[in-house]
Formats: sequence, C-alpha cells, structure tokens
Amino acid sequence: MNIGYATVVESERLYGETWITWFRAPELARGAYPGQFLMLRCSDDASYGCGSRAGARADDPLLPRPMSYHRLRDGAGGAEWCLLYDVVGRGTAWLAGRRPGDRVYAWGPLGRGYEVGHASHNLLLVAGGIGVAPLVWLADDAVSRGLNVTMVIGGRSAAQIFPSALLPKEVEVVVTTDDGSSGRAGFVTEPFGELLEWCDQAFACGPNAMFAAMAAVARKARVRRSVQVLLEERMGCGTGICYGCAVEVRLRGGRTMKLVCKDGPRFDVRDVW
Ligand SMILES: Cc1cc2nc3c(=O)[nH]c(=O)nc-3n(C[C@H](O)[C@H](O)[C@H](O)COP(=O)(O)OP(=O)(O)OC[C@H]3O[C@@H](n4cnc5c(N)ncnc54)[C@H](O)[C@@H]3O)c2cc1C
Ligand code: FES
Repeated sequence: MNIGYATVVESERLYGETWITWFRAPELARGAYPGQFLMLRCSDDASYGCGSRAGARADDPLLPRPMSYHRLRDGAGGAEWCLLYDVVGRGTAWLAGRRPGDRVYAWGPLGRGYEVGHASHNLLLVAGGIGVAPLVWLADDAVSRGLNVTMVIGGRSAAQIFPSALLPKEVEVVVTTDDGSSGRAGFVTEPFGELLEWCDQAFACGPNAMFAAMAAVARKARVRRSVQVLLEERMGCGTGICYGCAVEVRLRGGRTMKLVCKDGPRFDVRDVW
C-alpha cells in the first residue's frame, strides 16, 4: 500500500449521473489488480494539501471514501488510473467537483480483488448499476490475455447503463433494465442463470439484493461455478484497523466474522448468502 496525493488529470460526467475522474499518481496503483480499491479523503483541508474552497468546511466529511480502480492507462507522466462513480452524497459530490490540477489524498491498493483461475477461459461478468466500475478493468485485462468475456450489465433504466462502445469490442454484452428502456426488461439474474453453465467462473459487483438473488440462482443451478462478488461496507480506514467493515460469512459450515477491507472485498457469493 502507498499513501500520497493523486493529481486530477481530467474529470467528466460520462453518462447519466455517473462520473469518471482520471488521476496521475502511478505509485497509488503499483501492484494493483482488478477488484482492489483505494481510500480517498473527500474534503477540503489545508493540512492534507487539497486547498480550501470558499464555503467548504475542513475535514467534512471526516471519513475517507472507498472506491474501486476502474481503469488504467499510460499517461505522459506515467501510469494513470481512474474512478467511475455515482454522486450519492457529500463525498462523491466533492470528488465530482475536482478539476484538473487539484490534488486528492489517498491510499491504496487495498483489499483482495478478483482471482481468475489459470484454467478459466470463459468469464461471466455481472454488473448491477455502478457495480460496473471494477468489472470494466477485469474485462480489459481478461481480453488482453485472450480470454472470452461476456458481461451482463443491469440498471434501473438506460441512463444507468455503462456505454458498451467503451468496452473492448471482443466483450459480448447483455443489457438488462428494470423498466425495459434498454436491452432486456428484467434483472441481471436471468441472463446470469442462463450463462452459468457456459462460464468457468463468474464475477459480480452490485447491490446486496442482487448478490442474494444470484446466490439463490447459483444454488439451484445444475453446475457448480465459482461466483466471486465484491462486498460494499461503510469503511473508516480500509486497512483492517477500525473494524468498521466487519461482516458475518459462512466458512466450512460455521459463521465467522471477516473484514471487508482486508479479507475482502472479494468473497464467494455462497459464503455470504
Ligand atoms: C470497496 C468499495 C469499493 C467501492 N467502489 C465504488 C466505485 O467504484 N464507485 C462508486 O460509485 N462507489 C463505490 N463504492 C461505494 C462508495 O464508497 C460510496 O458510494 C461512497 O462512500 C459514498 O460517499 P458519499 O459521501 O458520497 O455518500 P454518503 O453521504 O456517505 O452516503 C450516501 C449514500 O450512499 C450509501 N453509502 C455510503 N457509503 C457506502 C459504502 N461504503 N457502501 C455502500 N453504500 C454506501 C449510504 O448508505 C447512503 O445511502 C465502493 C465501496 C466500497 C466499500
Ligand atoms: S474499514 Fe477499518 S477495518 Fe475495515
């Protein structure tokens, strides 16, 4: 893990209410892999070098915010990485307000990300809403290694769907929306169930209700496949110190406590639901 300032390179609203912000700080992505995350301080505070803005309260919000790495690219000054996020509260609103040249205090890479088995050739990626953020990098990485990728992207309506034109052209995309305004009407669990037999492994990110439905589908399926999900919890430190992100999981028949930031965020869906 490294700690330091990341400099904003560019930031824009990419689709609907979803923002993408690119950063330069190669050391904060060194050794990172898909499914890992960073903690970012999302407040103006001179002591963190962010520079105060008129009307902004220092250290508010106090706790840093966890965000997954979305994508990597080579920039003029070295590796650049970006975040894809929905503005849902004060922290993400602050982030969306950053402009090129602004600095954000962050630490990462953190946690255990997705694990692709050596024998896996067909990967099924299932994204619910903003859960698409870490899966895009997994798709980029898998395609560059010659693996077959099918990605199911679901959202409430067309405005929440990540544009498939921004994915590698080799990725097969299936879109579902709750209201039928794009792709198939319904939830991602339906194509997930249909494609489970095709894949060697499945990887998901999205809301807990989606994971619970996926666990039920996976249990009923004729074939057993590893289904890795990234859990989300409120986090205070991201490094296993505060115990703010403890969850109960089922391991070897018994229930036990795990820290999402350190033992996860990747878990097998059947261990949690
Ligand atoms: C490991 C990890 C990776 C994440 N990656 C991304 C990402 O790539 N893109 C993205 O948009 N979001 C991601 N999140 C969720 C993101 O951290 C929260 O949306 C963010 O902290 C909200 O901060 P806020 O101050 O804007 O909202 P707040 O004012 O703190 O909260 C607004 C709403 O968001 C909910 N919320 C806040 N924090 C979390 C959280 N940690 N998990 C779930 N719900 C939360 C609150 O319950 C509330 O309903 C990730 C969370 C985790 C734990
Ligand atoms: S966020 Fe502090 S222990 Fe996980």
